[in-house]
Amino acid sequence: MGHDWKNLGFGYIKTDSNVRAYYKDGKWSDLEVTTSEYLNLHMAATSLHYGQEAFEGLKAYMGKDGQIRVFRWDENAKRMQSSARGIKMAEVPSELFHEAVVKAVSLNKSHIPPYGTGASLYIRPLLFGSGAEVGVKPAKEYTFLVFVTPVGPYFKEGFKPGNIMICRDFDRAAPMGTGNIKVGGNYAASLNSLEKAHESGYGTALYLDSKERKYIDECGPANFFAIKNNTYITPESSSILPSITNKCLQALALDMGMKVEKRHVAVEELADFEEVGACGTAAVISPIGKIVDPEKNTIYTYCKEGVPGPISTKLYNRLMAIQFGDEEDKFNWTEIIK
Ligand SMILES: Cc1ncc(COP(=O)(O)O)c(C=O)c1O
Repeated sequence: MGHDWKNLGFGYIKTDSNVRAYYKDGKWSDLEVTTSEYLNLHMAATSLHYGQEAFEGLKAYMGKDGQIRVFRWDENAKRMQSSARGIKMAEVPSELFHEAVVKAVSLNKSHIPPYGTGASLYIRPLLFGSGAEVGVKPAKEYTFLVFVTPVGPYFKEGFKPGNIMICRDFDRAAPMGTGNIKVGGNYAASLNSLEKAHESGYGTALYLDSKERKYIDECGPANFFAIKNNTYITPESSSILPSITNKCLQALALDMGMKVEKRHVAVEELADFEEVGACGTAAVISPIGKIVDPEKNTIYTYCKEGVPGPISTKLYNRLMAIQFGDEEDKFNWTEIIK
């Protein structure tokens, strides 16, 4: 209530309530609604000591028709289950995940940004070990919560390209590590490289595969894609988080008569691409204007005169139109919440 919808950024803003469930003795409790923004957590909780923590990020959108649409929550539920298996936590069943998301959105309707502002309601599910242990082992008790917060559009001055920097001195994730799941430790491991990229004047860091440093991995907290010869190309790697936005863009590219390739993408290929971009829930697509490789003294340039490429622009507009309900949802990606 009382939000300055036009000037929302991407930060935490208090809403009315959040929902929580507790796992104990092998089963999940019913959902509980609270207005508290705080947790009463045991000091020996495994999330604090051993990083047993995973989160998700999805959005709800207010349509021109006044309907609230939640985008592909089932994919986020599955990814959180995969994260839970990856670090030995109790899995949140999809039904409980769904109930929590719907409840958190419905209870905070007054915080959903109006249609036309480009802003949306960010939904943050969180799962963590809340049981006390001192030895390195999985907790016996877990907490699942969902809070929401209104966020502004990623591009305040319109859809514009940014510049990024290849990062060779930090790895985000190991080839057989946890890069393919959404656990907090990956983000802690990315902070130094992200800060270095920001301090050097770049939007984010482009990570290479941590074994050979030959192939493109991820682009900050987003997936990488490129366009060449009517083909949508995106890296395949065991340390990339499977982006739901990327999955949507691949489906849209196929729908637009393009080819899709999921494969290793060598750094040298950057010289041949027509368009490149990063994709994720926050921005849908962040077009990339320049990729700078400081160690190799190379700059790859895209987006002539600062204008994003035609295919990236089309993909971006189509996905946003589906999310806001402006285009028919032929893939069945959205759920209308009452
Ligand atoms: C490391 C990483 N890669 C990719 C993504 C994009 O995933 P999605 O499209 O599901 O938001 C995110 C954001 O969730 C991320 O944190």
